[in-house]
Amino acid sequence: MTLTVNKAEMELEIGAKMNPGVWKQHSISVANNARLIAEKIKNMDSNSAYVMGLMHDIGRREGVKAILHIFDGYDYMMSINQPEIARICLTHSFPIKDVNTFFGKYDCTNDQIEFLDEFISNVTYDDYDLLIQLCDAISLPNGACIMEKRFIDVALRHGLPQFTLDKWRAFLNLKAYFDEKCDCDLYSLLPNVIENSFKSLI
Ligand SMILES: [Fe+2]
Repeated sequence: MTLTVNKAEMELEIGAKMNPGVWKQHSISVANNARLIAEKIKNMDSNSAYVMGLMHDIGRREGVKAILHIFDGYDYMMSINQPEIARICLTHSFPIKDVNTFFGKYDCTNDQIEFLDEFISNVTYDDYDLLIQLCDAISLPNGACIMEKRFIDVALRHGLPQFTLDKWRAFLNLKAYFDEKCDCDLYSLLPNVIENSFKSLI
């Protein structure tokens, strides 16, 4: 049984009360964008895409954490019997299936890294994993922007680790993949991309 839209919205509310932050608006933005894109693709369920977007960062309910938030999200979703969403919590940061390609601190245990390594090597990403990876890369708290803008936003915060160009290419490939699936430029499906993309980052 998948989480309903209402229940997911409630979970996000509760999570944001536990640890207030812009991650709530970012999650809503990812959810809205994922829904709009999924609506254009046959065989994708737009409500599931929306729920997964709302819940992809739910691990942030536990506090301000870096990579640990993906494990906290996985554990929480497993505890409420939502293995599909738990999977999204782990896969959303890895368009490249390599545990060493996370932008940010590794504030988790070695056992968690080993678990993640095994998990992402064995899982076959479906279109929901890919869609949430894509939407995470284009969703500012107030809406979508071109991914090149987010690349700079992330680089200003985390620097330019050696895997950066590979990760950018992986995101650009995701964009091309979904453009083809939507049979249009997916930015044309999302509101305010141009305005958001021209806003100053600093
Ligand atoms: Fe995340």
